[in-house]
Amino acid sequence: MAQHETCSSWLLVLSLLSIIVSFYRVSCVNLDHENGYISAVGDSGMRRDGLRVAIEAWNQCNEVGEEVPKMGSPRVADCFDVYKASPKSQGENNCSLCNAIPYMLVHRVTEEENRLGIGKSFLGLEKKAILDVNHYAVQKEVYLGSKCQVEDKPNPWQFWMIMLKNGNMDTYAAKCPKNGLLSGPYGPDNNFPCFGKGCMNQPLIFHNYTTLQGANRTTLKGSFYGTWDLHSKSRTENNSSFYSVKWKKELGKGSWIFHHVLKTSNKYPWLMLYLRSDATFGFSGGYHYPTRGMLKIIPESPNFKVKFTLNVIKGGGPNSQFYLMDIGSCWKNNGKLCDGNVTTDVTRYSEMILNPETPSWCKPDSPKLCPPYHIFSNGSRIHRNDTIRFPYEAYHMYCAPGNGEYIEEPNVHCDPYSNPQPQEILQILPHPVWGDYGYPTRKGDGWIGDPKTWELDVGKLSQSLYFYQDPGTTPAIRKWTSINLGTEIYKDPNQVAEWTVTDFDILVPK
Ligand SMILES: *[C@@H]1O[C@H](CO)[C@@H](O)[C@H](O)[C@H]1NC(C)=O
Ligand SMILES: *[C@@H]1O[C@H](CO)[C@@H](O)[C@H](O)[C@H]1NC(C)=O
Ligand SMILES: *[C@@H]1O[C@H](CO)[C@@H](O)[C@H](O)[C@H]1NC(C)=O
Ligand SMILES: *[C@@H]1O[C@H](CO)[C@@H](O)[C@H](O)[C@H]1NC(C)=O
Ligand SMILES: *[C@@H]1O[C@H](CO)[C@@H](O)[C@H](O)[C@H]1NC(C)=O
Ligand SMILES: *[C@@H]1O[C@H](CO)[C@@H](O)[C@H](O)[C@H]1NC(C)=O
Ligand SMILES: *[C@@H]1O[C@H](CO)[C@@H](O)[C@H](O)[C@H]1NC(C)=O
Ligand SMILES: *[C@@H]1O[C@H](CO)[C@@H](O)[C@H](O)[C@H]1NC(C)=O
Repeated sequence: MAQHETCSSWLLVLSLLSIIVSFYRVSCVNLDHENGYISAVGDSGMRRDGLRVAIEAWNQCNEVGEEVPKMGSPRVADCFDVYKASPKSQGENNCSLCNAIPYMLVHRVTEEENRLGIGKSFLGLEKKAILDVNHYAVQKEVYLGSKCQVEDKPNPWQFWMIMLKNGNMDTYAAKCPKNGLLSGPYGPDNNFPCFGKGCMNQPLIFHNYTTLQGANRTTLKGSFYGTWDLHSKSRTENNSSFYSVKWKKELGKGSWIFHHVLKTSNKYPWLMLYLRSDATFGFSGGYHYPTRGMLKIIPESPNFKVKFTLNVIKGGGPNSQFYLMDIGSCWKNNGKLCDGNVTTDVTRYSEMILNPETPSWCKPDSPKLCPPYHIFSNGSRIHRNDTIRFPYEAYHMYCAPGNGEYIEEPNVHCDPYSNPQPQEILQILPHPVWGDYGYPTRKGDGWIGDPKTWELDVGKLSQSLYFYQDPGTTPAIRKWTSINLGTEIYKDPNQVAEWTVTDFDILVPK
C-alpha cells in the first residue's frame, strides 16, 4: 500500500510581543491509493493532529428526554487546530525566537457553547426547539458541527462521535414510542431495568479539553468522562457507573489512541459506549434526525472495507456484547430509502459480537432466533431448517422488524421501544463462515490479551447478510450511515470494560 501525505500550510500573521511572526496551520490530506481505494472518513487512519471529536448521550429510545441540571444538552465537542511558529519565508534570517515558540492549539468550541442547554439560543436554533430537549440536542449537534467542520472532497466532515446510551426505561413514564407509534404507560416490564422515577437520566459529562502535555509539549491529550449516578460521591465508589474516553497523540506521528472505559452499576446495569463514524448530513443509524459525523462518503455494500486496531483490556463481563463492528442503516420494508417517517422507516443493524462468552441463541431445535437463511461467501444459500448445513453457531440472534407483514414463521420481533422507529437486528459470532471477509473465525480471536489490526470486508459481508423485505420488492441499496465500535453491557451491574482503538479507517473504491 502506498500512502502519501501532502501537507499544505496556511499562513497567518500574528502580532506577538510586538514582533511579527508567522504561524502555519498543519493540515495534512491523506491520499490512500490502495488498489484504487480512497478513505470514506474525514480523518483517514486517525492521523490528523487537529482532532475533531464529539460526544452524545441517548436514553433508551435514542432521545434526550430530560437534561441533567447544569450540564446542558448532552452534545459536547472537542475540536482544535495546531499552529506552529515558523520563519516568515524561506531564505530569510533565521529567527531564534521562532524556534523557541512552542506549538499552540486553537479550540473551535468554547466551554460556553459546550454547555448550551434548553432555554439558551444559538445561531441557527429554530424558535420552536428552544424548550424541546430532543430537538434542541439535534440542533446543537448541527451547530457544533458547523464549528468543527473541515472542508474536504467530495464533502466536508465534522467529527468522530462518541455515543453513550442508558438502557433503563421507565415504562410508566411512557417516554418511548412503540415501533415508532405513541404508546401509553404500562408495566411492570422486567425487560427493562429501572430503579424508579428519573431512571432514564442522562449522564454527567465532564470534559478535559485537549492540551499539549509532556516535557516537550508535543503530546496531545484530552478526555470526556462522567457517570449516570448523579449523586455518587466518587467515581471509584462501588455501585457507581462510570465512563471515560481519553484521546492521546504525539504531534506529527502515528495515530490517535482512543482509550475507553465503561462501568455499569446497580442503578445503571445496561450501558453502551461506542466510537461512531456517522453520516455528515442526513440521518445516521438509529436516528431520525440530521446528524453530523465523519463519513464524507457513505459506504455502500458490497464495496467497502473497515480497518482499525483494537486492544480489549477488560471485557465487561459475560453480558458485554462487545461489537467488533456495528453497522447501522435504514430502509423501508419495500426497499425504499428512509425519509424520517418513523412508522415506516426501519433501522437495520448488524453486529459482530467479539466476546467469546456470548452464546448462540439461534439453534437447530429453535430456529425463531435465526435469520431465515444464510448465504455462504460462494453465494450458496442455506435455509435455517437445513439442520445439517445451516451454521447456527455463526449467529447470536436475529430479530425481525415489528412492522414486517410477511416475516417467516417462527420469528421474534425486535424490542419495539429501543429505537425511534421499528428495527431489525442481526448479530453474528466468530465462526469459520465469516473468515473470507476477514472477520474472526474462532471464539477468543482478538479478545483480551490478543490485540489485533483488523481489515474487515464489511461491504461484502453486509451484502450477504439476511435482512427482511416485503416479497417482490426491489432489494434495497445497503448504505451504512453509521459504522461503530464499542460495547453494550447488557443488564449486568458492576462490570467494567476497557479498550483502545487506533488507526480507524473506512475504504471505498475511488
Ligand atoms: C537556520 O539555522 C539552522 C541551524 O541553526 C540551519 O541549519 C538552517 O539552514 C538555517 N536556515 C536558514 C533559512 O538560514
Ligand atoms: C524532548 O525532546 C528532546 C530533544 O529533541 C528529546 O531528546 C527527548 O526525548 C524529548 N522528550 C520527550 C519526553 O519527548
Ligand atoms: C482531567 O484533568 C485533570 C486535571 O488535569 C486530571 O486530574 C484528570 O485525571 C483528567 N481526567 C481524565 C478522565 O482525563
Ligand atoms: C451495592 O448495591 C447492592 C444492591 O443494591 C447492595 O447490596 C450493596 O451493599 C451495595 N454496595 C455498596 C458498596 O454500596
Ligand atoms: C468495593 O467492592 C469491592 C469488591 O466487592 C471491595 O473489595 C471493596 O472493598 C469495595 N470498596 C468500597 C469502598 O466499598
Ligand atoms: C407515515 O407513513 C404512513 C404510512 O404510509 C402514513 O400513513 C403517515 O401519514 C406518514 N406520516 C407522515 C408524518 O408523513
Ligand atoms: C459453497 O460453500 C458451502 C460451504 O462451504 C458448501 O457447502 C457448498 O457446497 C458450496 N457451494 C458451491 C456451489 O460451491
Ligand atoms: C424448509 O423450508 C423451506 C422454505 O420454507 C421449505 O420449502 C422446505 O420444505 C422446508 N424443509 C423442511 C425439511 O422443513
